[in-house]
Formats: sequence, structure tokens, C-alpha cells
Amino acid sequence: MKLNSNTKIVGKNLVLVPYREYHVPRYHEWMQSVELQKLTASEPLTLEEEYEMQRSWREDEDKCTFIILDKDIYEKSNDETDAMIGDTNIFITDNELAAGEIEIMIAEESARGKKFGWEAVILMFLYGIKHINIKLFEAKISLTNTISIKMFNKLGFQEKSVSEVFQEVTLEKKVNDEWIRWLNEQAQYEIQTC
Ligand SMILES: CC(C)(COP(=O)(O)OP(=O)(O)OC[C@H]1O[C@@H](n2cnc3c(N)ncnc32)[C@H](O)[C@@H]1OP(=O)(O)O)[C@@H](O)C(=O)NCCC(=O)NCCS
Repeated sequence: MKLNSNTKIVGKNLVLVPYREYHVPRYHEWMQSVELQKLTASEPLTLEEEYEMQRSWREDEDKCTFIILDKDIYEKSNDETDAMIGDTNIFITDNELAAGEIEIMIAEESARGKKFGWEAVILMFLYGIKHINIKLFEAKISLTNTISIKMFNKLGFQEKSVSEVFQEVTLEKKVNDEWIRWLNEQAQYEIQTC
């Protein structure tokens, strides 16, 4: 969506920036990994298709995406491509219910297990609640992805349904004041224009 096309979220250890054309080659390289394709239930795309995907994430009003940067690397190099470690998205699934599907990927293996996934997804929840007015989040996770299921459970999500066909579980979390307070306690951030 265009809403976040000039928005940068500066967190404690991460910076979230809008997904732009210059991020595509590295993003495409990540998605060649069969493991990541499996964990994120994605089909491999050609480089040209990935550029098309980037354009659609920017233009379509039901999709919001940020690239996750390691703040430490970014502050040293001032190079977004160098500091890229993953991405996080909200896909609006139901306008009436204000429901959005949340996705998170820490693609760089060396960046996993350092609380980056946790921080990024919390920043995205807060952005989605304040700026897109999301009232209900859903996460679709492969049944074998126990790390992600564990993380979303810890974030307050509960099981909604299981699909035997897709071998995935749908977890959900209704937004309420108590959860917003809790999210704000977990995060420190400022929003800048870029
Ligand atoms: C799932 C993912 C986003 C987690 O991000 P991360 O930065 O590696 O995880 P964090 O360090 O932020 O840990 C957050 C929580 O995840 C869980 N977790 C993380 N690593 C784990 C591990 N090796 N074993 C078990 N649980 C783990 C824990 O609940 C952890 O909280 P805790 O440390 O307080 O117990 C990341 O591993 C990833 O992107 N994996 C590949 C793509 C993917 O699976 N995406 C999700 C598709 S829905």
C-alpha cells in the first residue's frame, strides 16, 4: 500500500523500511532457499516476478510490507541492502472485520534467535493497529514450524483452525486495549519519514 511508502520505523535493535526496488535482488536470493520456501509456504519466483511482487506490495491497498534491517549494521554501513535480514507483512483479508494476516520472516540464519523476529512483529502489530486500523490478526503457519507457532502463542495468539489439506494452523488474536498496552510495553520506537 502507498500509506507506508515513505515510512521508516526505528526500533531498539531494528529499523523497518518500505520494500523498494533496490531490495529485490537480495530478497529474491533469499527466496531461492527451499527451507524458506517451505517455512513461509511460498512458491519460488523468477527475478522478474519478484519485481512484479514488490510493485504489487507497494500499489495494492490490501497489502503492507516492510523490510527488516539490523539497526547495528545499518548504522555502521548506512546501506539498507547490507543490513537486510527479513520482512514482515500485513495482508488485509476482510475489510468489514478489519482483519489482517500477519507474516514475518527472518531470512538471514545468522540473525535468528536474537529476538529480532519478536521485535519486528510487535512493531508491525503496532503499526497495523494505529495506521491501518486492524482489529483482528491472523497467522497461518505450517504445522511443522514449531518455532513460529511457539512465538505466536507467546504473543497471545490462539488456534482458530487446522487445515489437513494445507498442513497449516491458523492462529488469531483479537486486538484489545490490554494487548495494545502489553505491545507498547515490549517496544520502543519512533516513526520517521524516508
Ligand atoms: C519464526 C521466526 C520469525 C522467529 O524469529 P527469531 O528472530 O528467530 O526468534 P526470536 O529470537 O525473536 O524468538 C521469539 C520467540 O520465538 C520462539 N523461538 C525462537 N527460536 C526458537 C527455537 N530455536 N526453538 C524454539 N522456539 C524458538 C520462542 O518462543 C522465542 O521467544 P523466547 O526466546 O522468549 O522463548 C524466524 O525464526 C523465521 O523467520 N524463521 C523462518 C521463516 C518462518 O518460519 N516464518 C514464519 C512463517 S509464519
